[in-house]
Amino acid sequence: LGEDGSQGWLRYAPAAKGCKSQQVPSAIVALNSTKISPVYTAGKELQRGLRSILGKAVDLTTGGRSNSSAIVVGTVDAYNTAYGSVSGVEDLEDDGYLLSTHDGSVVILGRNQRGALYGAFEYLSQVARNNVTSGSSYISNPQVPIRWTNEWDNMDGSVERGYGGASNFFRGGYVVDNTTRAAEYARLLASVGINGVIINNVNANATLLSDRNVEGLGRLADAMRPYGVQLGISLNFASPNATLGTFDPLDPKVDAWWANITNQIYKKVPDMAGYLVKANSEGQPGPLTYNRTLADGANMFARAVEPHGGVVMFRAFVYDNHISYANWTSDRANAQLEFFQPLDGKFDENVIVQIKYGPIDFQVREPASPLFAALHNTSTAIELQVTPEYLGQNCHFVYLAPLWKEILDFDLRADNKSSMVKDIVSGQRFKRPLGGYAGVPGAGTNTTWLGSHMAMSNLYAYGRLAWDASLGSEDILEDWTRLTFGSDQIVLDTINDISMKSWPAYENYSGNLGVQTLTDILYTHFGPNPASQDNNGWGQWLRAGNVTIGMDRTIENGTGNAGNYPPEIAEMYNDIDKTPDNLLLWFHHVPYTQRLKSSNETVIQHFYNAHYAGAASAQTFVQQWESLKGKIDHERFEHQLFRQTYQAGHSLVWRDSITQYFYNLSMIDDESDRVGNH
Ligand code: GCU
Repeated sequence: LGEDGSQGWLRYAPAAKGCKSQQVPSAIVALNSTKISPVYTAGKELQRGLRSILGKAVDLTTGGRSNSSAIVVGTVDAYNTAYGSVSGVEDLEDDGYLLSTHDGSVVILGRNQRGALYGAFEYLSQVARNNVTSGSSYISNPQVPIRWTNEWDNMDGSVERGYGGASNFFRGGYVVDNTTRAAEYARLLASVGINGVIINNVNANATLLSDRNVEGLGRLADAMRPYGVQLGISLNFASPNATLGTFDPLDPKVDAWWANITNQIYKKVPDMAGYLVKANSEGQPGPLTYNRTLADGANMFARAVEPHGGVVMFRAFVYDNHISYANWTSDRANAQLEFFQPLDGKFDENVIVQIKYGPIDFQVREPASPLFAALHNTSTAIELQVTPEYLGQNCHFVYLAPLWKEILDFDLRADNKSSMVKDIVSGQRFKRPLGGYAGVPGAGTNTTWLGSHMAMSNLYAYGRLAWDASLGSEDILEDWTRLTFGSDQIVLDTINDISMKSWPAYENYSGNLGVQTLTDILYTHFGPNPASQDNNGWGQWLRAGNVTIGMDRTIENGTGNAGNYPPEIAEMYNDIDKTPDNLLLWFHHVPYTQRLKSSNETVIQHFYNAHYAGAASAQTFVQQWESLKGKIDHERFEHQLFRQTYQAGHSLVWRDSITQYFYNLSMIDDESDRVGNH
């Protein structure tokens, strides 16, 4: 097969002979399109895909009569002008598509050009999976307007928490000259419905706003625009300081400075999606420096982009990283609510508060952030990390869709009513006009994009879930596997099995019962180091002693965090008998001998058992992957085998370090004689 990994899931591998999807039209009409428009891209992509999958050269025209066996792709308006009024599109929304296949003719329509492109990618996905249903017609609309990635690329060319090589966007302090890679990335993202990319790190550098770089932003936006992907940028809150000597958001000079630079950017990037802002977090500057509120800060940017139709994603990841370990009521997990709940309703309409899925920081298991349920008059987005910073950094493989779905499907019961996180961020629950998804992929120049071929299922799943969170993790995975590795049943079953076992395995050998990932938190975020978590101001505490362990987040005795949730959920988390075992140590401080409700094991025995089970599971992934030899191409087989082998070994390091650590603290022997002094 000899595959170029950089195509990701868009390989368009040749179909097996005799597939029913071979019966595709013999012409493509991309309606009313210019050469840099998403509809033209759709036409080119269809041509490329059909040539590659079916070996069929199909003509592409940009107008003219529809012949009965053509693929017609375009906007509803263009279709109406060309062929007369089309019916059945009343429910079509922005970015959505109608896909209709009848007797060899295919009609793909969007309300806007981007929607038509998404429909074309969906049709190609069906052809590639040999899954075109002739005689069907349906509409697919995205659940949210904001489906973005946040790239954490630094201007020096590195990528924060990225494991796939150097930046695709910056080199040596400037935007890269060659934008080919940016265009290829936009193509991948567009194929799963992503419509915006924040191209630089949330820990932003003010030099992004230099004339040379603003010009560079224009080039990057030009490269991504044919794919309907809008560019956005992260801002350093203190950017005006160098010229004005202040960055006070209520100073009219500062306001004017931001309005001016924003206007300049929009001259180069007329469709810029908006700004992303990390303020007063982990040493970053922000409005609190001037005793202004976070809303004062967010609204300053909102005013600047509003005339241009832009939005501001303002991050809720605001906390003090110097809190007192000695104080049993201090809790980093309370910070979001403390900062943001009083500001509900005070943000401008084009501000979206972007909330990490849990209250701390992308741990292997967290409860959903209570902030989702607390903002009723503010638009919100969920931030998900596609790059597995705390989950093995793509040297281990964890399929993340099940983790994300657990959060998205969680019902926070605001006002005692159904309040699933996915319905809150879609804007539906609190009737908000905006809302969405921000995924942090960590993509780089590596041909695998993320550092491993299997990791791409996470980027794929992120896009699919941002479009429709009701999709099942296994269904998404199956689509990805068919597109990426083909449809051999053994390949499908094996990749499904490894993927669906991967999160439980990693949780088992890294950190159990909601205790967090137990990795090194001070530097690498990689490998076991539970001791790094306690006794410092970062607040990612286990509170692991000789007899007891866990964060007491109860209302009466603890940090009160359980009470940040709406009443029904607060009651569950506040009560040790009702808290699910997998979050026991997140909410409660208990003896190592505390028994679990589900298994009757003690906490310490569960640690031992889980770590052995998780590491054993990681060993089986190697054999399972080896069974794919000859069923997938050699290069990708070997690449992933290397990673699975590493993971298997490293899982033993995890197992032994963590079990020994807790044995040393508790001096309680393992009932199965694996840990301790037997
Ligand atoms: C984590 C991560 C940082 C990142 C931060 C953020 O703490 O380790 O690298 O800057 O999250 O999301 O802002």
